[in-house]
Amino acid sequence: MVNPADQQTGAPGSGGRRSRASTSQYGFAALGLDLVDQRVEDSVLGLLAAVEVELRESIDSADPLVVEASRHLVDAGGKRFRPLLVALGAQFGDPTAPLVVPAAVVMELTHLASLYHDDVMDEAQVRRGAPSANARWSNSIAILVGDYLFARAADLAADLGTEAVRLQARTFARLVHGQIAETVGPRAGQDPVAHYLAVIADKTGSLIAASARFGGMFGGATREQTAALAAYGETLGVAFQLSDDLLDIASESTDSGKTPGTDLREGVPTLPVLYALESTESDADAVRLREILAAGPVTDDDLHAEALGLLRKSPALERARETVRGYAEKAREQLAPLPQTSPRYALESLCTFIADRTG
Ligand code: IPE
Ligand code: IPE
Ligand code: MG
Ligand code: MG
Repeated sequence: MVNPADQQTGAPGSGGRRSRASTSQYGFAALGLDLVDQRVEDSVLGLLAAVEVELRESIDSADPLVVEASRHLVDAGGKRFRPLLVALGAQFGDPTAPLVVPAAVVMELTHLASLYHDDVMDEAQVRRGAPSANARWSNSIAILVGDYLFARAADLAADLGTEAVRLQARTFARLVHGQIAETVGPRAGQDPVAHYLAVIADKTGSLIAASARFGGMFGGATREQTAALAAYGETLGVAFQLSDDLLDIASESTDSGKTPGTDLREGVPTLPVLYALESTESDADAVRLREILAAGPVTDDDLHAEALGLLRKSPALERARETVRGYAEKAREQLAPLPQTSPRYALESLCTFIADRTG
């Protein structure tokens, strides 16, 4: 049988010899993770290979369109960041415990479902380097497949017990609140930056926190360790979303598998834009940038290119990078209650990478 992990990026050539799994087979190789030692690496890769199998089994359906449309983004890849955090969190207890893999599948299914819906909301055309489901089929299909994936996540969560079902439901509710708050924008008188930071904690931090917590819970880490993992995940998730938003502006290429500049086009005011809007600099570039951004979504191609160019060289972008580094550093500090062993160093390597990935 072909290792499904191999299917993502092609099996490494090994002249017919069965090769050991390697981090480069996974999208998370893009996260600069250092798995530190062979034992942890073997365990994490083994768990993620099992996640790939169960993920595909979990979305099976009698309806071929449902299978095709829900496998679409699973097969397109992705970093598997949330399953990775479950697998790393489980290293603080027993990573071979039976519910670690299903817990990771629940997290990835919840994430996937939110991506189907998010791409409808954001009118995104590309996801994971493939056409988004809304572009490939229609908004209706993308929404319904997202609902199906949430339903499958809930079904699997039932096997994890009441506490896990509640955590998954509350996490999903926070995620939805974050997406709604982003859509509605700040209340009158609310600071836009504070609003935005609350939005991303809800829409992204919540699920990454839940993933790290699931790892601790189902691996059997202590309560204190599990709480530390959750706190770390929440802060890391904020740093991760902020860095993703920065890359939307700073990256020239489509390396992310998404279209750069989408947030600007959709009028989602991410941190660099908010910092630029609140700046009081009076040089011509800053004034011009504020003028374009204050007018709302930048849909005109020339204006869009001009705004991206101005943002890329603006002090606002550098200030946003500093904010990302601050969150990444805080996440690292939140690991303090955990033993100083390889899994903790692996979690720290994610902080370093996220702090540095935006330049
Ligand atoms: C995308 O998440 C949505 C955000 C929270 C930024 P990921 O960047 O983890 O997406 P995939 O799973 O790798 O596609
Ligand atoms: C995605 O937010 C967050 C969720 C899916 C809940 P974004 O809209 O910022 O993420 P991308 O850039 O499309 O991945
Ligand atoms: Mg989006
Ligand atoms: Mg969005």
